[in-house]
Amino acid sequence: MDLEVLISEAEIQRRVRELAAEISRDYAQADELILVGVLKGAFIFLADLSRCLTIPRSIEFMAVSSYDNGDQESSAVRLVMDLRKNIEGKHVLVVEDIVDTGRTLNFLGELLAARKPESVKTCALVRKPDRARVETEIDYLGFEIPDAWVVGYGLDYDEQNRTLPYIASINPAS
Ligand code: IMP
Repeated sequence: MDLEVLISEAEIQRRVRELAAEISRDYAQADELILVGVLKGAFIFLADLSRCLTIPRSIEFMAVSSYDNGDQESSAVRLVMDLRKNIEGKHVLVVEDIVDTGRTLNFLGELLAARKPESVKTCALVRKPDRARVETEIDYLGFEIPDAWVVGYGLDYDEQNRTLPYIASINPAS
């Protein structure tokens, strides 16, 4: 399978540090920020981002899966693993690896907002603007990439290539 590097390890590390600095500034007055990583893809991004923050933070995880109703346009998102923590009155930042159609982030944003946190914001490392199907608000965004399947830095193709230190497009047919 052919891999073409789209975002190098150095570029990712630099951008992660920038995002962490921005987030640390924005939440400087908050008692605590709860980072909610979306499994599995966000685990590496969350690990690096959280270690660069200079504010009090804790880590939680959620897992979702998409189910296809035959056609992509109507695919929906289902909660597979919920938070263990009550987020009422807390500041929450959802940390997602990649935003494709936007459905996952929208689903999680609405679900968490209904639990009456002090605030809910979103952070995504990568977004594919050409694939957006629903409007999504991303408060902290790493990179925009063209419409291609990408792997590395937590992202997989059929569970492979998650641990590459860079992000690459993959052509499974080759
Ligand atoms: P969305 O709900 O369509 O925005 O899809 C988001 C989820 O689809 C992500 O959390 C990933 O798990 C998966 N995904 C979308 N595009 C890619 C990709 O290019 N590589 C790996 N996973 C992807």
